[in-house]
Amino acid sequence: MDYGADLGFTFVHTPKVIFGENALAEVGTLLSDLKASRALLVTDRFLAEKTELVARLRKAAAGRIAGEFLDVVPDPTAESIDRASELARRVGADAVVSLGGGSAIDTGKGLAVVLTEGGRVLDHEGYHALPKPLVPHLAIPTTAGTGSEMTMVTVITDPARGQKTFIGSYFLHPAVAVLDPTCTRDLPPLLTAATGMDAMAHAVEALFSTLRQPFSDACALAAIRTIMAFLPRSVRNGADLLARGQMLIAAAQAGSAFSNAMVSLNHAMVHSLGARFHKHHGTLNAVLLPHTMRFFAPDVGERFVWVAQAMGVAASPADPVAAGLAAADRMDRLNAEIGLPRRLSELGIPREALAEVAEMALSDGSIIYSPRPIAEAAEVLSVLERAY
Ligand SMILES: NC(=O)c1ccc[n+]([C@@H]2O[C@H](COP(=O)([O-])OP(=O)(O)OC[C@H]3O[C@@H](n4cnc5c(N)ncnc54)[C@H](O)[C@@H]3O)[C@@H](O)[C@H]2O)c1
Ligand SMILES: [Fe+2]
Repeated sequence: MDYGADLGFTFVHTPKVIFGENALAEVGTLLSDLKASRALLVTDRFLAEKTELVARLRKAAAGRIAGEFLDVVPDPTAESIDRASELARRVGADAVVSLGGGSAIDTGKGLAVVLTEGGRVLDHEGYHALPKPLVPHLAIPTTAGTGSEMTMVTVITDPARGQKTFIGSYFLHPAVAVLDPTCTRDLPPLLTAATGMDAMAHAVEALFSTLRQPFSDACALAAIRTIMAFLPRSVRNGADLLARGQMLIAAAQAGSAFSNAMVSLNHAMVHSLGARFHKHHGTLNAVLLPHTMRFFAPDVGERFVWVAQAMGVAASPADPVAAGLAAADRMDRLNAEIGLPRRLSELGIPREALAEVAEMALSDGSIIYSPRPIAEAAEVLSVLERAY
């Protein structure tokens, strides 16, 4: 085992998780348990207008929703969260219900901060600065996914700085995560694939991280096995509710893993590319992950054997570097199997921008958890160049 006598860690796992087909129908009871009678619903126009999810949610909430913010934007901006907060204050909201992908759930988290603490969302930027519990937040993911329903972080885009920033606090964990496979049924194949690879990156990066520990390891390894088995199935047939449900569980486990162990270089590059070029978070993670794995192949040791085995790749404990490289190759093939792009050049990102992106990644909050310290932008650039 990879744990030494100096092992020490904190593992926090707060949301109550409700799983099952049609778990959405429980929302009214769950809000009642939270003593919430005037929740603000946070979702986006597509989900509100093109799916039946919001209608089902309204019915399930049985009058406990006091207002609806339907203008969630992808990679939520501080300004959009502040607008949601104004509406929440106007209707006297006492809880938040977020329905959607990571963007809706992160908007819900930012809104819960402002509703409790006042001011604007960026006033509360940073880690562990919130003084008390927030209004309760019930999160319902419709992608599988970011795992944001399980994490203590909200990722906020600040267009003024052209960067993604964070609020992190144990108080940001939603009170309840409702995992209902019917909520991801209509997610198109490409978004299914890309969001699934975001969960994969969370699991792999949590296993690499300097903050790795036994509980997050267990969640991460379980997530990798499940994603290998059920992501291709979910992409092939979106109506396969068994596969959809397993992917929701894997995304939540991977979320729990990285909320405790953090992510590192892969996400640092993804955050920087996402803020600069507005490309989808999961797609960027998928494209970069095999290259990040190759980059760290000499540094991860036995953990790469675990990753390879969880992926169904033959690996010998005697040669962890070979295991890492084989796992990276398998990751690249998985991207191909599920129809994802495999190069940054396919995403319309100009090569000349990579040096600037490498500099941005060096100042991203995640990079410090990398399995070996990264001090030079040139090292980050070498990974970006290989992925181009
Ligand atoms: N807080 C965290 O712990 C955490 C972790 C990882 C990522 N993130 C953040 O999450 C965001 C990305 O979230 P995402 O990948 O879930 O995408 P998203 O929430 O931005 O949604 C992407 C698109 O998918 C559509 N969509 C969502 N569910 C659908 C469904 N069931 N059917 C049809 N269309 C659907 C949305 O309308 C949207 O157009 C980024 O801002 C990223 O920074 C946060
Ligand atoms: Fe992510």
